Amino acid sequence: MTYVVTEACVRCKYTDCVDICPVECFHEGPEFLVINPDICIDCGVCVSECPVSAIYAQDDLPAGQEVFIELNARLAAQWPVIAEAHEPLADAETWAQVSEKRQYLDALQGA
Ligand code: F3S
Repeated sequence: MTYVVTEACVRCKYTDCVDICPVECFHEGPEFLVINPDICIDCGVCVSECPVSAIYAQDDLPAGQEVFIELNARLAAQWPVIAEAHEPLADAETWAQVSEKRQYLDALQGA
């Protein structure tokens, strides 16, 4: 089992999840963070840190978010580790109100 970052993170990147993670399992792309399933120790402490509730246990994903399991694993292998939190993206508050944001992920085009 692992935890998975889902669609709500897209174009927000609050990064509160990063500082609480004890094992540095988060990787950062331009508009999204992912969890490396090989590093995640399933502690779950990041879940309540995310202001937009983007993180779920793999076995407890909301309907329609299953594609993010594969996406987290694949992009974690491509993107660098993020070790420290930083400011959210400039329009994070606006994007936090948007539920369908996966079209902004290049890696998900056509998925
Ligand atoms: Fe994304 Fe939430 Fe972390 S918006 S960067 S999963 S705190």
